Amino acid sequence: MTTDLRPENIDWKDLGFSYIKTDYRFISYYKDGSWDEGTLTEDNQLHISEGSTALHYGQQCFEGMKAYRTADGSIQLFRPYENAKRMKLSCERLLMPVFPEEKFVEAIKKVVKANEEWVPPYGTGSTLYIRPFIIGIGDNIGVKPADEYIFSAFVMPVGPYFKGGLKPSNFLVTDYDRAAPKGTGAAKVGGNYAGSLLPGKEAKERSFSDAVYLDPETHTKIEEVGAANFFGITKDDLFITPKSSSILPSITKYSLLWLAENRLNLKVSEGDVYIDQINQFKEAGACGTAAVIAPIGGLQIKDDFHVFYSETEVGPVTKRLYNELVGIQTGDVEAPEGWIVKV
Ligand SMILES: Cc1ncc(COP(=O)(O)O)c(C=O)c1O
Repeated sequence: MTTDLRPENIDWKDLGFSYIKTDYRFISYYKDGSWDEGTLTEDNQLHISEGSTALHYGQQCFEGMKAYRTADGSIQLFRPYENAKRMKLSCERLLMPVFPEEKFVEAIKKVVKANEEWVPPYGTGSTLYIRPFIIGIGDNIGVKPADEYIFSAFVMPVGPYFKGGLKPSNFLVTDYDRAAPKGTGAAKVGGNYAGSLLPGKEAKERSFSDAVYLDPETHTKIEEVGAANFFGITKDDLFITPKSSSILPSITKYSLLWLAENRLNLKVSEGDVYIDQINQFKEAGACGTAAVIAPIGGLQIKDDFHVFYSETEVGPVTKRLYNELVGIQTGDVEAPEGWIVKV
């Protein structure tokens, strides 16, 4: 994908998940104990000290969220305060200054509005991905928190993260861990993702969509599916998703838990998902902002290949969850109170 595309040249129905340089990004600096007002800039390059803690010690965190175009042409965000809260937790874990919730949501609205023409049209299946991040900067060398930081947010139009949308794909259970017990798995920090590159590459080389991680302590329970959370639907219609302190608390997952219970009238539970008990599931999927809902066709566990619903068709419960979630995000289905913020 080239980086000098213009909105009028984009085939909105054929977008992948790649960097596109849009017109504006929001940037704010933290110095002497406080954040400045922040501003929009056209410059997509950062000029930072070689001693920046983000570069050496991974003192950085980020978020991933989306803006959606509705049928009436307006633009809306899905639960942006949840991203602000999660970023606060990530900052606290890495001793970085918190970017206040209200300022966060205002900054996101500003950067989306400034790049309005890049928000894909309604009905194309594409959305505007938003990437807020905070990095430790300044002249440092010892292992300690920086005194200065940048908060920034940039945006780009994207299509589905896992190719094929609601078409199921297969995943590979890896021996690698993405996080340690009491480590940083529940924070959205770059180090977790650096460690996932190798297992992800190995999975893709074997034609799987991504790696599935087990709990780092016992390697008996499902934790994450690449950069997404796992959910399964049991044969007696219970929606189950793993609970663990080393999983990233997915905003999509908590939204699905609510929708499964309140809109689909399923029983729901957050608990252990033992890899040797996956026979209990008639359907399974990965969920996240980028992944939306990606049905898991089959799971490779060492030499065994386990198929859930089907390798080619999405299951009916997963489909209903998808329609409910995406309907809310794009304004076609009534949202629970507070879930939608208009830009
Ligand atoms: C490791 C990991 N798990 C889960 C998710 C899904 O989280 P969310 O639904 O908040 O996007 C993501 C993506 O943000 C992720 O990177």
